[in-house]
Order: sequence, then structure tokens, then C-alpha cells
Amino acid sequence: MLTREENEMLTRVGRGTLAGELLRRYWQPLAAATELTEEKPIMTVRLLGENLAVFRDKQGRYGLVGEQCPHRRASLAFGRVDDEGIRCPYHGWKFDCTGKCLEQPAEPEASGFKEKIKHTAYPVEKLGGMLFAYLGPEPRPLLPRWDVLAWETGKRWIQKQEMLKCNWLQPMENSVDPSHLYWLHGGAAHLARAMDHYEETHEFIQFEYGIMKRRATPGKKPGAEREIDQHPLLFPNTLRHVFKMRETNGKVRHNLQMRMPVDDTHTQVYVVYFEPDETDRSPAGGDVPCEFFPVRNENGAYRLDEVLVQDAMAWETQGALTDRTQEHLGTGDEGVILLRKLLREQIDVVRQGGEPLGTVRDPKANRLIELDVINERIGLFGRQPQKVA
Ligand code: FES
Ligand SMILES: [Fe+2]
Repeated sequence: MLTREENEMLTRVGRGTLAGELLRRYWQPLAAATELTEEKPIMTVRLLGENLAVFRDKQGRYGLVGEQCPHRRASLAFGRVDDEGIRCPYHGWKFDCTGKCLEQPAEPEASGFKEKIKHTAYPVEKLGGMLFAYLGPEPRPLLPRWDVLAWETGKRWIQKQEMLKCNWLQPMENSVDPSHLYWLHGGAAHLARAMDHYEETHEFIQFEYGIMKRRATPGKKPGAEREIDQHPLLFPNTLRHVFKMRETNGKVRHNLQMRMPVDDTHTQVYVVYFEPDETDRSPAGGDVPCEFFPVRNENGAYRLDEVLVQDAMAWETQGALTDRTQEHLGTGDEGVILLRKLLREQIDVVRQGGEPLGTVRDPKANRLIELDVINERIGLFGRQPQKVA
């Protein structure tokens, strides 16, 4: 149980809030690169409570600017792009990717007025087909080259989920909550047995990028005393996961589940999938296909036969920003308690001007960050042998 003040501190994302300032120290998912096209090169995005417009100029450079024009607040989302940047639809002021005002058609050239205008703008980088934005203070850290984004030995695609009506911390707490598996997702055949014999153990190990969640279940194969699976929570708002698909002949499917904090009560999930493949390979710098994943059907009901929707249902029904003054945590919530403690500590680190957990600044360490994902049940034992080509 938290106090109202603690709950606010850990969840609110706006500029100047405590969690909001922590989240601004990390690159955040923004969009799939293919959401911007030649025909539709501008898109509005709400990120960390800020209304923004992301665009691709005619040279292929990405920009992220405040949606409202600094002249008289028309939306730049209806603007036009050219070789140099984005132009407001109302009176034609033009801005480059850094927010510099390049033109003001109705002002005398000699007035120097445009030099006085600096529009809100944030850096954008592309990796694994995703665009990422950094909304924090300079010097910015490096965009982490997580394996699922940077591997070049297989194919990659993106799933954009229907926007969730809940705060970002609810999905993140779920990522360190292994005891929900059998109950929420218990319909799957391989989980059914464990519902009668709940005999697994959990460990949560803090490591350089977040929290390693490790689950041990009694082994099913002869001689196997126990089977481990291990998935890292990449602090503060990403889960690295892996599973094997029956419908793809048992191929291993790695994934990175990024929970983009839209505002205090909305979260946009992007999942990047990676499947090792001999012939079908996605370059780390290229575009990859993006599919939309609805949480509800055409009648507005949850599609509860989908595992990811079972989770989404749980997170949304906790409340848009769940009231943690009313909860009762037990031993099985050990991971949730650790995540909250880590958040509090890292909020303090930022408050004191320090560098929070997991930010990357060494280019050598960032060539490829391979994560120790284990799932012995599907034959994954420790580090994967994938390398960048
Ligand atoms: S409101 Fe944008 S140029 Fe006037
Ligand atoms: Fe789940």
C-alpha cells in the first residue's frame, strides 16, 4: 500500500513531476518509422503529457516539435514538409528539425524577429524500424542498441497496440509479477497443470539495465530438477521477452515490449518482434512492417482469447491510474515492491543531479546489448549466439 503522495510520485509523467523527470532521462519509443510516409509525412504524438508533431522532411531527416505553432498556436500537424523542415499551415512560418525558425513570410527580412523564435524540438533516432525521442536535458545518453532492435540475423516486425487507458506503471508492475501467469493466462494448455500445483519459485535480481525476473518450475523432462525462465525488465519502461510459436513450427520469437507513457492515464504499447532466420533478414537501420493490434473487437469487448489482451484487461480494470492506497501487497508481490523501491531510488538520483540506472554513454558497450533471456521449457539456455552482421 502506498500513500497518495507516493502513488503520484511514482506515476505522473508531466514535465517537472518526479517520475516525469526520471522518464525524460531515457530515450522513449515514439512511432514506427513506417507510420510516416511520403503522402503522410507528419503525425501528431502525445508523449509524457506533451503534444508533439513528428515529421520526416524531404531529405529523410526526422524532426519532433511542439504541435502548436509558436506564432498563434495553429497545429503543425496540418503543415507541409520540404527539404529543410516543416511549415505551419496558417501563416507559413517554417522550422527545421532543431526548432530553429527559418522563415516568417509576413515579416520584413531585416526585422530579425525569426532569430528570437526557438520552437520546442527534441532529437529523434531510428533503430530496428522504430523512432525514438529524447525529451530530457543534454548531454543526451546513447540510444541503447538492444538485441531485438540491432540483430541482423533474422527478420523483424512491429506491432502497434490499441492505446491503453491506463498509466504506464501498471504494465511495468505486471512485468515483475510472475504469479499472475496461471490465473490470467491459465487457459493455455501448458499452464493448466500448474494451476493445481503452484510450486514455482521466483527471484528478482537487479542488474545494470533493470531487474532480471527469474522463475523456476519443477522440471518435466527426466533428470531436469527444475526449469528456469528469465526475462529482464529494462528500466524504466520496457520488457524483454521471448516465446515460441506453435503456428510457426516452434520458431523462437524474441520481443521487446515498449510501454510509451502517453500521459498520466494512457499508454501506447509498441512490440518489436525478432525471429532468427537464415534468409529473411531485416537490417537494423531499415524500415520494418508495422501491424495494428486491437485490444477490443468491433463491439468494444476485450478480445480475451489473446494473451496480450488478457494483460491489457487487467491493467485497464485496475483503473486509469490505479489507487495504490487501497491495495494489499503480499509475498507474491515481491517483484512489484522491488520495482517501486528502484523507482524511488532512481528518482532521488535524478533529483540530486546524478545519472540514473541503465543509461548508456559508452559507444563500445552500445555496439550490441545482448540480454540474458532464458526459457528452458522452449530450449533457450542463456545467451543467444546472434551477432550483428
Ligand atoms: S500560427 Fe503558425 S504561422 Fe501563424
Ligand atoms: Fe501476462
